[in-house]
Amino acid sequence: MEQNGAPENGAPAAGLPQPAKLQEVPYTKLFINNEWQRSSKGASFPTFNPATGVKICDVEEGDTADVDRAVRAARAAGRSGAPWRKMEPSARGRLLHGLADLLERDRVLLATLETMDTGKPFLQSFFIDLDGSIKTLRYYAGWADKNQGKSLPVDESFMCFTKHEPVGVCGAIIPWNFPLLMFTWKVAPALSCGNTVVVKPAEQTPLTAVHMGALIKEAGFPPGVVNIVPGFGPSAGAAIAGHMDVDKVAFTGSTEVGQLVQAAAASSNLKRTTLELGGKNACIVFADADLALAVAEAQKGAFYNQGQCCTAASRVFVEESVHDEFVRLSVESAKSIVIGDPLDPRTAHGPQIDRRQLEKILDLVASGEEDGARLECGGGTLEGGGLFFHPTIFSGVEDHMRIATEEIFGPVQCIFSFKTQQEAVQRANSTRFGLVAAVFTRRMDRALSVSSALEAGTVWVNCYNALHAQTPFGGYKMSGNGRELGEYALAEYSEVKAVTIKLRETL
Ligand code: NAI
Ligand code: MG
Repeated sequence: MEQNGAPENGAPAAGLPQPAKLQEVPYTKLFINNEWQRSSKGASFPTFNPATGVKICDVEEGDTADVDRAVRAARAAGRSGAPWRKMEPSARGRLLHGLADLLERDRVLLATLETMDTGKPFLQSFFIDLDGSIKTLRYYAGWADKNQGKSLPVDESFMCFTKHEPVGVCGAIIPWNFPLLMFTWKVAPALSCGNTVVVKPAEQTPLTAVHMGALIKEAGFPPGVVNIVPGFGPSAGAAIAGHMDVDKVAFTGSTEVGQLVQAAAASSNLKRTTLELGGKNACIVFADADLALAVAEAQKGAFYNQGQCCTAASRVFVEESVHDEFVRLSVESAKSIVIGDPLDPRTAHGPQIDRRQLEKILDLVASGEEDGARLECGGGTLEGGGLFFHPTIFSGVEDHMRIATEEIFGPVQCIFSFKTQQEAVQRANSTRFGLVAAVFTRRMDRALSVSSALEAGTVWVNCYNALHAQTPFGGYKMSGNGRELGEYALAEYSEVKAVTIKLRETL
């Protein structure tokens, strides 16, 4: 999601990558044991293009029986003596690099599928989602032979060391906002550490995940190492979370479903969980900040991916003396955002994912107006219906309002005014969430003390949505458990075995 290199809003199309012309979607079945399989009940479900409302294709619908098959394949592939376990760790790294090479080769195709399925602008898919996915695969390719244990300083009659072993079969339940990127955030560290996986993509956006099956096979991963079961949450998703033979589940999505996943993990086999859930992220803009930079970054934070980001900067606290100017510049900039066909490379803002999400946004925006916040711009859908929603800014927002407390997951920026640093930090922290936060200031001491005081897993200083494969990502409080990315994620996918040897001879 690092946005450097992405073209400007409304950039001319000449010289930019163009989407592929797809006659049909090549892969739509379950991927189990490196084979394309039908769902056991013979069902399928449609996936739609949110920009047009037109069905793209039908995808095979997996449920409990299919998850069982996928888990059996994953278990067999990870068994001691199986090719995946006998392989040198560095060979796992080579396979992950090979997969990254195939993503580079198929970059236009994957970006096109991602845009058709999610409605996100093509160049964002091409530059940001694909770039992040490729870098994540390469980063964890490098770790494959470096996840090492320790030798421990016990008394001299013993030798004691630790080994890092795979956890086993890892489930991955993926959301619809960054389908390919979230696939790689989960699958790359799992494979780097020698696990096998069963992936369930979101029902709204299965296409790039299913396509990954073909690339995984072509890269040469042994059968059963990666299995992909498209399907719905309460059936296929719940089957993974509650499975007695899945050792770990990684989930990204709503807080409510995160709680269900953790409860299912606890009441089945106590499988490990990592949860990446909601946010109500605060951006604090001090009067000493570079105001143009703060406006641009806060706006990117609020509207990027149509606001459908767990990292969305939905609460912007601006110091009183620059508040009005901040609002004026933000509104001016929001009105210039190019909304349109996400396949057109000039488009910067596409449709929301589906009607249900659009209605959630409309309801929250209506509540903001009723509660007395000032609607500065946007606030409604594009003329002609569809799922397109104008970038929206509220000022005069108060902390108790629903728009100030609930995750909107749409392009809505809420601007608040503050007087003192202490007040800003206290208000920023007064939420059950704690995913990310940002601070804009030119004063280094202030940046450091405010970033220490903010209760969030990530704090950005003078930037927003700056994510790197090297840097851990995850939430404090109800934004989740555990960390994805970086060296920290290796621990989420490794068991630690302590081996203690009694020495017969001591000198
Ligand atoms: P969701 O949490 O229902 O969906 C995320 C994934 O969980 C999907 O793959 C879904 O099929 C699966 N799932 C659903 N129910 C399940 C269950 N009982 N057991 C196991 N897996 C299950 O999120 P939804 O309904 O698509 O969106 C609702 C809200 O969630 C959004 O408005 C937004 O506030 C939040 N959300 C947050 C995301 C994030 O990046 N943290 C991503 C998507 C949604
Ligand atoms: Mg759902």
